[in-house]
Amino acid sequence: MKGLILSGGKGTRLRPLTYTRAKQLIPIANKPNLYYVVEDLVRAGVTDIGVIISPDTGDEVKAALGDGGRFGARFSFILQPQPLGLAHAVKVAREYLGDDPFVMYLGDNLLSGGIAHLVAEYRRTMPHALVLLTPVDDPRQFGVAVLDGAGRVVRLVEKPAVPPSELALVGVYLFSPAVHDVIAGLRPGRRGEYEITDAIQGLIDRGGRVTAHQVRGWWKDTGKPEDLLEANRLVLSQLTRRLEGEVTASEVAGEVVLEAGATVSRSVIRGPVHVARGAVVEESYLGPYTAVGPGARVIRSEVEYSIVLGEAELCDLPYRLDASVIGQGVAVRGQANGPRRHTLQLVLGDRSVVRL
Ligand code: TTP
Repeated sequence: MKGLILSGGKGTRLRPLTYTRAKQLIPIANKPNLYYVVEDLVRAGVTDIGVIISPDTGDEVKAALGDGGRFGARFSFILQPQPLGLAHAVKVAREYLGDDPFVMYLGDNLLSGGIAHLVAEYRRTMPHALVLLTPVDDPRQFGVAVLDGAGRVVRLVEKPAVPPSELALVGVYLFSPAVHDVIAGLRPGRRGEYEITDAIQGLIDRGGRVTAHQVRGWWKDTGKPEDLLEANRLVLSQLTRRLEGEVTASEVAGEVVLEAGATVSRSVIRGPVHVARGAVVEESYLGPYTAVGPGARVIRSEVEYSIVLGEAELCDLPYRLDASVIGQGVAVRGQANGPRRHTLQLVLGDRSVVRL
């Protein structure tokens, strides 16, 4: 079985962060989303992996993944010239996939329960497709599935105005090579994209067996800033305390990871918090669900439930930063000894500068 990771796309909902970086490389608890995806595939025994890349962010994705050696995998990078949809990505990977069954995994998805049991189930039962579902509050934003009494998928609709069920498709799909024939005859849907839901519906229409599994644990699609923060929270809640950096005159409580080379002085940290190598925290407060990237500096500031990327600098903030995403190398500076105000919420793309 091969893997196919989708790491192209436009990432419009994550602008400005995606002007300068692939959304799949935005760190969740200081690790790119894409690494979790690769590790999950490898754990499931899928090591021959095709990675769909776009002309805009392909080089960055390639550089971040390398040849796969350090993950115990082998990568083949496949350029999708335009983001014409998930089924289009399968189409451009046709030659790479050959006649093997494959797992398609969206590069911006995270699953706490992993996919090993799905791959095992697929191998045992060999359906034409196996999809992963989860109940959601507003199915109108998702591909939605209708099941029969035996748990087989009988119908799929993409972003329905009137949802036929509450079961949304999650970004992991297992396919037999039969899907290629269907995709070859597919027309773009309402959004102008080649929809994977139409491909799966095509398999069903041809009498194919499409089975479904419900997600174990949590699932998150990190397509929007609030989802990034929520994914960061979910991953950080699994953290185990490990202090390898230097702590001076500070209170560090709960599940906190302080990587080697990070320094914390005259500060309070309440976990779960992850502080990467080389970061500096001085006279500051880091509250629950915060990740501070490599080489970032938090000086005389308060930060909670936020993602601060590498080399960013937060200095003398008059506000407590909350629910914020601060891009690589961003500088946000207040006045030393200025008055304290309330909370500040920011999503700042890489290298922004804000003076308060
Ligand atoms: P989406 O989040 O559905 O699409 P997008 O990346 O274009 O984002 P936005 O809607 O904010 O503009 O894509 C899910 C995943 O699949 C994501 O990792 C990007 C990837 N993808 C491709 O590789 N090729 C494509 O043609 C599309 C649409 C997405």
